[in-house]
Amino acid sequence: MSEPIDLAALPHDFLWGTATSAYQIEGAVAEDGRSPSIWDTFSHTPGRIDNDDHGDVACDHYHRWPEDIGLMRRLGVNAYRLSVAWPRVMPEGNGPVNAKGLAFYDRLTDALLDAGITPSVTLYHWDLPQVLQDRGGWPERETAERFAAYASVVAERLGDRVKHWATLNEPSCSAWIGHLEGRMAPGLTDLTAAVRASYHLLLGHGLATQAIRVAAPGARIGIVNNLSTVHPATDRPEDVAAARRHDGHVNRWWLDPVHGRGFPADMVETYGVELPEKPGDLDTIAAPLDWLGLNYYFPAYVTDDPEGPAPHVRSVRREDVPRTGMDWEIDAGGIEALLLRLTDEYAARKIYVTENGSAYPDLVTPDGTIDDPERQDYLERHLAACASAARKGAPLAGYFAWSLLDNFEWAYGYTKRFGLVHVDYGTQARTIKGSGHRYADIVRRHRNQGRRAA
Ligand code: FCB
Repeated sequence: MSEPIDLAALPHDFLWGTATSAYQIEGAVAEDGRSPSIWDTFSHTPGRIDNDDHGDVACDHYHRWPEDIGLMRRLGVNAYRLSVAWPRVMPEGNGPVNAKGLAFYDRLTDALLDAGITPSVTLYHWDLPQVLQDRGGWPERETAERFAAYASVVAERLGDRVKHWATLNEPSCSAWIGHLEGRMAPGLTDLTAAVRASYHLLLGHGLATQAIRVAAPGARIGIVNNLSTVHPATDRPEDVAAARRHDGHVNRWWLDPVHGRGFPADMVETYGVELPEKPGDLDTIAAPLDWLGLNYYFPAYVTDDPEGPAPHVRSVRREDVPRTGMDWEIDAGGIEALLLRLTDEYAARKIYVTENGSAYPDLVTPDGTIDDPERQDYLERHLAACASAARKGAPLAGYFAWSLLDNFEWAYGYTKRFGLVHVDYGTQARTIKGSGHRYADIVRRHRNQGRRAA
């Protein structure tokens, strides 16, 4: 894509950011009183992660955060989406607060604000304290209650400076990939556990929302969902019905309850698992929000799979379409469609794209630069689609590129690089890639030229 992106519809106070998460970048897993999370356990289980990689050191951000803030300044971004590690703040999952762990995020917050960068804090990006997993984890109601207690502690400490809060990152991955497909921590393949986990994640979201409102008046709270556009692989009625189920599984199950619509009845029937509902829960889950976070990566094409596990849907890999290094199909139209869907179907008042990006196997040239035209193209196409959605009325208030740094990409370990900044894991040297320079250019033009094209 080479034509300029028309960013005129984006507001002048647009948040231009990058995103990361604690376990993927921090390292220092046994430092200053942090306890293991389910991702420490999972990544140290042989065979779970490519190359048996783990997050013990990752990008060493726990020690190198001043340099990383420096990189953000060089990119010219005005926002940063980070996550707080629950096992640093409450190593026992509940109860005693670990002052050293909390102090890390306190320092980070101050330094970001000093650099003119607005922090957007996600409270749960998948790193449940292992002690809570040992007590049953998300399939148990207690975990939701403990999450709210932890959220309250963090909001109380940082809430005088942090205004943007997200409760959960991609609860559908926690529930479905972690408890049904088994490809992420805690690695279960149990439909009942998965449905119960999904329920308690959303309950935890609602309880935490209420807790943050009390602890940090003025907080602007949202939830971050990864959504997909869903297409039937063929026009067979079975595939059309499968697409409807997949939409229920990845989109409606997560959006409807927080919008006061309850859990979609068709999906309750499809799963056939009784929800652990208590009176008042649905109101808690639907606690009013200030914004919605959209993580978007790829569209889904699906077919009916009657023999497979609920929801009896299989993704189909389409041939002859562009793909990233994750083998994910590229479709920038999907981000526009989802932004408009949140606007039209869910009456979103404010939306942030909280993640969007692409992995490619980057090559470092002999002179040390990293040219990544494919990532740059992905970025430009998706930004253009975001701008188009804004022109059509989506209340888009910010975009956070995934990711600031190459980092620990979950089950893929360090084999997949999403960063705008390259990390040499041997030396921890950071180098801004071509896509990072292009992003800086777009951000600068939007800022300097206001309503003119970038
Ligand atoms: C999302 C996760 C994020 C990162 C990207 C590539 O699902 O939220 O941590 O791994 O995918």
